[in-house]
Amino acid sequence: MRRYSRITGTGSYLPPRRLSNEDLAAELAQRGIETSDEWIVGRTGIHARHFAAPDVASSDLALEASKKAIEAAGCTPQDIDLIIVATSTPDMIFPSTACILQDKLGAHGCPAFDVQAVCSGFVYALTVADAMIKTGAASRALVVGAEVFSRILDFSDRTTCVLFGDGAGAVVLQASEQPGILAADLHADGKHVGILCVPGNVSGGNVLGDPLLKMDGQAVFKLAVGVLEKAARATLDKAGLTDADIDWLIPHQANIRIMQSTAKKLKLPMEKVIVTVGEHGNTSAASIPLALDHGVRSGQIQPGQTLLLEGVGGGFTWGAVLLKL
Ligand SMILES: CC(C)(COP(=O)(O)OP(=O)(O)OC[C@H]1O[C@@H](n2cnc3c(N)ncnc32)[C@H](O)[C@@H]1OP(=O)(O)O)[C@@H](O)C(=O)NCCC(=O)NCCS
Repeated sequence: MRRYSRITGTGSYLPPRRLSNEDLAAELAQRGIETSDEWIVGRTGIHARHFAAPDVASSDLALEASKKAIEAAGCTPQDIDLIIVATSTPDMIFPSTACILQDKLGAHGCPAFDVQAVCSGFVYALTVADAMIKTGAASRALVVGAEVFSRILDFSDRTTCVLFGDGAGAVVLQASEQPGILAADLHADGKHVGILCVPGNVSGGNVLGDPLLKMDGQAVFKLAVGVLEKAARATLDKAGLTDADIDWLIPHQANIRIMQSTAKKLKLPMEKVIVTVGEHGNTSAASIPLALDHGVRSGQIQPGQTLLLEGVGGGFTWGAVLLKL
């Protein structure tokens, strides 16, 4: 009997503080930075984002999302035998946010580690968990994307600070005789490190470089549109399926124009695309599991449907996971 992995529960969490574009524009105006709802909506499709309170860390958001996913899967934290957290905004340099989450869940002993692939982090983490389940190294994995991107935003740079938000999404991925995850396709190209990065570090107790997000928006846009189509096609090919088999596209929620362009290339109407960027902004590794959970809980996504998850982000990294729910 072949061993597969399938998602048995989803969960997500947004911190309560919601900032509309008008709220953010008013805050930025106090710093002498000019922006508008019209500009942000027109260029990105973003209407609002959520920011975590200063004492709330990625592991806190991850905990809330994880509790919901575990409840939806009908299991307990003690049943989880692998924890992977995708994040670029960890609580600490070390230990991993996954270990901190494990402690907060009260689930001790199972392997727990972080995956760092920025906005592709969740598809990377899901692919790793799937592989570990298929080899028998794990049976019930908790896979989380959690971010507090508000901590690394440069609020004097209007070209980036209006784009991102905080949040977390989680899934329970379980060993199964039925597929589940059908195929995955991951890539990276480190020659594009400089177009989207936080070029800082700590050394000897000092911050070295600049610990705030830098982005060449147009370069990112062009690269993203090209690689997302390629990853989608490669994943479909591996599974022996075509565009027509996709019930839902769940792309990384960075910009509505990137999503529209990907959907068009895959000949999918926007009615088959889960879109949460308007209310969430870009929550990096959290964006795909947040969108997935939104689709499931709103009743749009139904059991048995075929989903294509796609991520793209700093590194440059990109990838896709095709699955049957
Ligand atoms: C960031 C992005 C929205 C910018 O849109 P753009 O059309 O490329 O805009 P530009 O950077 O060329 O700027 C156009 C003008 O708007 C201005 N502008 C930039 N940010 C602004 C803001 N928040 N409010 C008002 N005006 C702004 C610029 O100063 C520029 O003005 P100028 O023409 O007078 O110089 C777009 O490049 C993008 O979405 N890139 C992909 C980003 C992304 O998805 N990143 C995450 C990937 S994981």
